[in-house]
Amino acid sequence: MSLHLCNPSTFSSLLLPISTSLLALTTTPVTNYSASVPAIYRLTAPAISYANLSFCNITLTYTHPGQNDSVTIETWLPASSSNLTVTTSTNATNPAHPWNSRLLAVGGGGYRAGRFDLSYFGMKGGLGEGYATITTDAGLGSAETARSWALLSEGNVNLYNLQNLGTASLGDMGLIGKEIIRAFYGRGPEYSYFNGCSQGGRQGMVIAQRFPGLFDGIVAGAPAVYWSEAMGGFQWPQVVMNEGGEWPYGCEIDAIGEEATRQCDGLDGVVDGIVQEVEGCLDRFDPFGMVGREVECVQLGGKNITITEAAAAVVNKTWHGRERVDGRRAWYGLSPGSDLTVNGSGIVATNCTEDGCVGKPNLLGTDWFELFVEKSLTADVSNMSHKELDRFVKATKQEFGSLLETDDADLTEFKRQGGKLISWHGLIDQLLSPKATERYYQDVSATVPETQEFYRHYEVPGLEHCFNGPSGNPLELLGQLRAWVEDGIAPEASPVNVTRLDGTTEARVLCPYPQKAKLDASCTEGVCWICENATRLPLF
Ligand SMILES: *[C@@H]1O[C@H](CO)[C@@H](O)[C@H](O)[C@H]1NC(C)=O
Ligand SMILES: *[C@@H]1O[C@H](CO)[C@@H](O)[C@H](O)[C@H]1NC(C)=O
Ligand SMILES: *[C@@H]1O[C@H](CO)[C@@H](O)[C@H](O)[C@H]1NC(C)=O
Ligand SMILES: *[C@@H]1O[C@H](CO)[C@@H](O)[C@H](O)[C@H]1NC(C)=O
Ligand SMILES: *[C@@H]1O[C@H](CO)[C@@H](O)[C@H](O)[C@H]1NC(C)=O
Ligand SMILES: *[C@@H]1O[C@H](CO)[C@@H](O)[C@H](O)[C@H]1NC(C)=O
Ligand SMILES: *[C@@H]1O[C@H](CO)[C@@H](O)[C@H](O)[C@H]1NC(C)=O
Ligand SMILES: *[C@@H]1O[C@H](CO)[C@@H](O)[C@H](O)[C@H]1NC(C)=O
Ligand SMILES: *[C@@H]1O[C@H](CO)[C@@H](O)[C@H](O)[C@H]1NC(C)=O
Ligand SMILES: *[C@@H]1O[C@H](CO)[C@@H](O)[C@H](O)[C@H]1NC(C)=O
Ligand SMILES: *[C@@H]1O[C@H](CO)[C@@H](O)[C@H](O)[C@H]1NC(C)=O
Ligand SMILES: *[C@@H]1O[C@H](CO)[C@@H](O)[C@H](O)[C@H]1NC(C)=O
Repeated sequence: MSLHLCNPSTFSSLLLPISTSLLALTTTPVTNYSASVPAIYRLTAPAISYANLSFCNITLTYTHPGQNDSVTIETWLPASSSNLTVTTSTNATNPAHPWNSRLLAVGGGGYRAGRFDLSYFGMKGGLGEGYATITTDAGLGSAETARSWALLSEGNVNLYNLQNLGTASLGDMGLIGKEIIRAFYGRGPEYSYFNGCSQGGRQGMVIAQRFPGLFDGIVAGAPAVYWSEAMGGFQWPQVVMNEGGEWPYGCEIDAIGEEATRQCDGLDGVVDGIVQEVEGCLDRFDPFGMVGREVECVQLGGKNITITEAAAAVVNKTWHGRERVDGRRAWYGLSPGSDLTVNGSGIVATNCTEDGCVGKPNLLGTDWFELFVEKSLTADVSNMSHKELDRFVKATKQEFGSLLETDDADLTEFKRQGGKLISWHGLIDQLLSPKATERYYQDVSATVPETQEFYRHYEVPGLEHCFNGPSGNPLELLGQLRAWVEDGIAPEASPVNVTRLDGTTEARVLCPYPQKAKLDASCTEGVCWICENATRLPLF
């Protein structure tokens, strides 16, 4: 399809969903476009770089009449006046037919539904492989915080904005995206895919749960499913410190984490800086054994301090997960080996001077509880008590469950319509517990027979939240999803590159849950890791 059709008249008779009304549409022919996308920002596809590519940028704004919202969808459609030079191992698209007949929608992150740096990386990557690619801002703009769109007035949440983030914008994006494609190419996409992580992973899960049939394949990383518990988890360590009335230095927390990694590293039989046996580590390593040990403290300009009981307590509670006031377990924790402080911005962060520290809650949790639960621009939850946290998590479920919880395990209809779903989650995710995704997989397995026929889950040892850490990203998953959807080849092992302690890189595999990867000791060359059946206990 040629770029000369990239003008508004091509799109003058779009059939939009009955619930929407078009506000504006711009078309911009883009030529000589070049991009270079590092692998990690494509999440589940290899790095790509290209030059001199052409596409039609159709950016459309619509409202749901009566809701006073204004949602923007941005679409990039490969067009044939380009002369494409793809310089990667991925197959080059034929310049004469630059569209690969497929749609790739990309997700958001944090409080952003899309149309920000990460979604643009996803789109650039897709474009380079010939996909028509699309993102939505859900009407929220692209600010990191939700402050600009959360409230209608003090005490009143903008529920329509939350509904757009939670569900509605995703259905619209699929329907409108296909309509735009039909108008430009004269036919709809043969296959439609979704790729996202974190908020984007949750978006993928919503599509499987609420819009079966809209997308053929979904790959969802570190999904923020069980939303109320995810929010509770962000605040939990701060509440533990508030209740204890002591806020440790980051260096104490980090020292405990580093020692856990050191002691638990070899439990899986390989010393590589990666803790793969999470349960084994929790059984074996006692953070309280570190109390009294002397460590050098960066927050004190390199002076030594001794690790406090309070530091061990908050690490222990963060690993074990949120408890209710009465002591019952409420949710899952982060794994030993995950970076709890992230140099002052993690969920166990504190803000310290020579005289001591105060709590420093994570923005994702404070935005949620201040703006949506307290419903105020001036609320301050930094001193939240344990009782309040219980109440706030419950209120989240009650008031916003249908909009954001994303916990519906009945994927029967998605399966019936032939949909394929892959989820993946880094085991050292420093924000969202990998056990939440494991739990979702277990819930689906208990609800839909023959789960493996349409849904597979991959744990990624040594990977942080969405990217970074000793493990690289699972860069073949999108391709494997495509082979599953289009050729019926179900994904088994998925390759991953891991950086070992000595800085060298090793090719390993990720395995479909409940399998685990194991080093084949007899192997001397090639990929020496294999997938093995593993016993997994039902999570509480
Ligand atoms: C195309 O883009 C390249 C790299 O961005 C630039 O060097 C070149 O001058 C551009 N060519 C045209 C015709 O604009
Ligand atoms: C696409 O068009 C929109 C609206 O004009 C603009 O904001 C966006 O930057 C454009 N994107 C590209 C890659 O040209
Ligand atoms: C939203 O409401 C304001 C104030 O009533 C109005 O000016 C604006 O046009 C409305 N926007 C939409 C998209 O309906
Ligand atoms: C870039 O693409 C245009 C249009 O297809 C073509 O005329 C031109 O030769 C290409 N330039 C390069 C450097 O490939
Ligand atoms: C692409 O550019 C090359 C030279 O770089 C040229 O030989 C070829 O004809 C161009 N193809 C198209 C479709 O413009
Ligand atoms: C590239 O093309 C070859 C031959 O058509 C095919 O076997 C292979 O699977 C393709 N690879 C990718 C990554 O699409
Ligand atoms: C500080 O603690 C480290 C152990 O973490 C120890 O090696 C070092 O000697 C201590 N320095 C001082 C000045 O006590
Ligand atoms: C660590 O936390 C768990 C869960 O709250 C608790 O059962 C255990 O007693 C704690 N460990 C210590 C040594 O306090
Ligand atoms: C940690 O944060 C401090 C200030 O907040 C900064 O000076 C330092 O460079 C950071 N260190 C790392 C390793 O990012
Ligand atoms: C840390 O505390 C100081 C006061 O001690 C304050 O000025 C600063 O804004 C705080 N920083 C953060 C990020 O909370
Ligand atoms: C692993 O690294 C090799 C060599 O750089 C590369 O060819 C391969 O695509 C990478 N695989 C993954 C899954 O990252
Ligand atoms: C692994 O589990 C599958 C399914 O439960 C079973 O079919 C297979 O025989 C098992 N393989 C081994 C080596 O135990």
